[in-house]
Amino acid sequence: MSSTVMQAAMVFTSGGPEMVRVAEIDRPVAGRGEVLLEVHAAGLNPSDLRGRSGFADLPVQYRPALQRPSVPGADVSGVVVAVGSEVAEFAVGDQLYGLVRFPPFDGRGHGRTHAEYVNAPVTDLAPKPQRLSHIEAAAVPMAALTAWQQIHRQGAVEPGERVLIVGAAGGVGHFAVQLARLRGARVVAVASSRHEKFLTELGAETFVDYTTGDPIAAVGAVDVVIDCVGSIGGLDAGRWLPALVDGGRLVPITLAFYPPEELARRNIATVGHQVQSSGADLRQLNELFDTGALTVGIDSVYPLQEAYRAHQRAEQGHLQGKIVLTMRASER
Ligand SMILES: NC(=O)c1ccc[n+]([C@@H]2O[C@H](COP(=O)([O-])OP(=O)(O)OC[C@H]3O[C@@H](n4cnc5c(N)ncnc54)[C@H](OP(=O)(O)O)[C@@H]3O)[C@@H](O)[C@H]2O)c1
Repeated sequence: MSSTVMQAAMVFTSGGPEMVRVAEIDRPVAGRGEVLLEVHAAGLNPSDLRGRSGFADLPVQYRPALQRPSVPGADVSGVVVAVGSEVAEFAVGDQLYGLVRFPPFDGRGHGRTHAEYVNAPVTDLAPKPQRLSHIEAAAVPMAALTAWQQIHRQGAVEPGERVLIVGAAGGVGHFAVQLARLRGARVVAVASSRHEKFLTELGAETFVDYTTGDPIAAVGAVDVVIDCVGSIGGLDAGRWLPALVDGGRLVPITLAFYPPEELARRNIATVGHQVQSSGADLRQLNELFDTGALTVGIDSVYPLQEAYRAHQRAEQGHLQGKIVLTMRASER
């Protein structure tokens, strides 16, 4: 293969996992304020599944315009192989990770990390935590940044508060459990029973299996609800409201509909937010990873050439941690 092309996962037509094909395309180049990364590993996120399916799980009015063909992926961990103009922060050989160009629908284009190379703005990147492998680091950016930004900014979780995390074993949820605990909160984790040991070891004080009994009653009173499941698939996001104290905060990280009259009557604030790429926020997480205070759950790992299998695994649901693609056999 010539040095100007690369292998990339690509979606030419919206549809199921079988629509993800690996093809040869031109390598990107590092533009102004960017580096070119040789990708060692790249996380898979629900946004990649939505982009592939044409946002089929969202109501029509919430579906953004599609780019086709497209290269999925926003999370990356890799090594700098070229530096663009006006870049002082990083040099060739640096090991970096990040959430690239997210959100993608603001005119900056997609991250396109499910490929052998990606160009990325330096502001989206941070040095890879030394304690983490590229596979672990690639699992971090979108999920951990979402949890970090919601807990420390929008949700403003305070020490001693009781925090309910719905979808606690997934990518965002398993970081939210740890970051809320590190903030000094008492965590109630909601997930299916298969995740109880995983979540208890991550620091959940209370585990609630949403598939059995009366999960709302089992939760008890909470000050904050961080909802990683919301109304997707027709679920009633308001089902957790009885557990929330009057004056409490709802932090939906995905599409979630609540009865506005009840929110107003009970003085409940809704503070959902879209995650933003931020190398600066990732640097704040690095120390937590390097001391072992924060750990990464890996659900499964697939080679780039079998990217469609990673999408198949994601569609099965019930993830425990993250799915990651690797571009190099030596990482596996
Ligand atoms: N706002 C943002 O910027 C932002 C950023 C990242 C992600 N998101 C969105 O947030 C959502 C979660 O993302 P993710 O990466 O964490 O997804 P994920 O890794 O697929 O995790 C979802 C988790 O939810 C659990 N779950 C499924 N149905 C449930 C239910 N009814 N009640 C409780 N738990 C349930 C699943 O396992 P079990 O069923 O086995 O418990 C799974 O562990 C997605 O919709 C994603 O698009 C938003």
